[in-house]
Amino acid sequence: MTIIDGKMLAEKMQADLKLKVARLQSQGIVPGLLVILVGEDNASQIYVRNKARVADKIGIRSETLRLAENVSEQELLNVIEKYNKDDNWHGILVQLPLPNHINEGRILHAIDPKKDVDGFHSYNMGRLMAGNPAMVPSTPAGIVEMLRAYNVELSGKRAVVVGRSNIVGKPMAMMLLAENATVTIAHSKTENLATLTKEADVLVVAIGRANFVTADFIKSGAVVIDVGMNRDENGKLCGDVKFDEVSEVASLITPVPGGVGPMTITMLMEQTVEACMKSIN
Ligand code: GUN
Repeated sequence: MTIIDGKMLAEKMQADLKLKVARLQSQGIVPGLLVILVGEDNASQIYVRNKARVADKIGIRSETLRLAENVSEQELLNVIEKYNKDDNWHGILVQLPLPNHINEGRILHAIDPKKDVDGFHSYNMGRLMAGNPAMVPSTPAGIVEMLRAYNVELSGKRAVVVGRSNIVGKPMAMMLLAENATVTIAHSKTENLATLTKEADVLVVAIGRANFVTADFIKSGAVVIDVGMNRDENGKLCGDVKFDEVSEVASLITPVPGGVGPMTITMLMEQTVEACMKSIN
């Protein structure tokens, strides 16, 4: 069994990105990432801080705009419109979840698709679905990079994605399909889940339930990707996959932390740099 070192891979990609950004800077161009955070959600604060830290490390100019929990939808739309028009910002990201009084779809659709570094706008989701991707969600994009880096064969293989969110499950399935895997999407209503996941050569789990996937879900030699980021009963950070026992059965597995998480942020940075380069061409 091999542990997929997402942290190391992310650091290598960040070093490459840093060189790319330095080249842009020598031409007087600085990629800019604007992050909008509404309210005080604890997890979101940590995510946003990590994004700013990595942007800084790479040389991307980033700013986090913090808006009050009770900001109106119209005020938020006005902010997005302002930054859509500002050429100094190449990527705009609204951290999710948003407070209940704000319509998430309306906000995500207000972001200029060219600046939509999260790939959540329907235009970008549609392009991914059509097999002609532009901006794509960072988490599944990072997973494809990891699978590539570890030479995981996808063509003709059975891939099972557990979770059907717009952020991970659905785009993940489309990306695996584009790699010619035979893809099944499972979710909370799926019957006989373990029977299904046991058929997977590649299993991606994104359900947000601590240590839910146990060894009896896994085909011997499968590749297991854990997108979960949970706290167990002792408050310790853990994934959706029970690492100790699943790692006994899998051939390759991602740890939590140090697996998917660092790759997600790195792909976000890569897309910001891409958006910047496209804007000057
Ligand atoms: N909330 C949880 N994951 C994400 C993400 O990838 N992007 C944004 N904007 N919000 C999130």
